[in-house]
Amino acid sequence: MNFPLFDLHNHLLPLIDDGPNSMDETIKIVELSEMQGVRTIIATPHKKDVNELHSIEFVRGLLKKVNQICKSRGYSISLKLGMENHLDSRLLDDIKAGKALPMGDSKYILLEMPYDRKSNLVEDVLGQIQKIGLIPIIAHPERMELFQYDPALLFNLVDEGMLTQITASSVYGKFGDEVQRFTKQILRCNLGHILASDAHMSTGPRPPDLLKGYFEVSKIVGRDAAKDMVSTLPGAILENNALDIKPPILIKD
Ligand SMILES: [Fe+2]
Repeated sequence: MNFPLFDLHNHLLPLIDDGPNSMDETIKIVELSEMQGVRTIIATPHKKDVNELHSIEFVRGLLKKVNQICKSRGYSISLKLGMENHLDSRLLDDIKAGKALPMGDSKYILLEMPYDRKSNLVEDVLGQIQKIGLIPIIAHPERMELFQYDPALLFNLVDEGMLTQITASSVYGKFGDEVQRFTKQILRCNLGHILASDAHMSTGPRPPDLLKGYFEVSKIVGRDAAKDMVSTLPGAILENNALDIKPPILIKD
């Protein structure tokens, strides 16, 4: 690949959440990502697990350790810290208290929506987060019932300036036909901005597969749009720059 890839959603830190259970497994994820041309990974452990079972300091220490191993092996890849922040009524307070982290040092923050078919909280809390100057990135909307049952809600949120992260394996059917079908609709309607692996292990159902995802997205919306999703836009997020986004289109069956 003649451009760098950036993976902004990845659970590779060991023994923190439902990701790898050893540092060896973490390094395997790093190696596979390096081979695919990934330059930066944002480690995004679940906010709940970090705060309830560990601490942000502990996680920063682990991240440093992984970066040292990468350097000693001559890898070009490096890690930054973020979080997958579950949306609930306490989220704004957690952000203000430094318990819910944005991506690296940027104003972009990865948010996981409630796993319910309907939620009255979503628009309210997302609006509050925008008001304090952060830009929400909605994690894998293609897998959320909230949007499967109400695609107009996804359109409205993107129309209000929010971004979305699509998971690579959704594009090629690992979460089933329905998710794959909805993923294609999202991509064709300019409602998917970032592609990420959401990797949990080096093998199995949730591997580091960003490059495969890029090729699969290319088949649906073309190479330029796919490159935007794995390189241009995530690269701009890491630099904390504003993004050049195509206007969203309402999904119609
Ligand atoms: Fe995740």
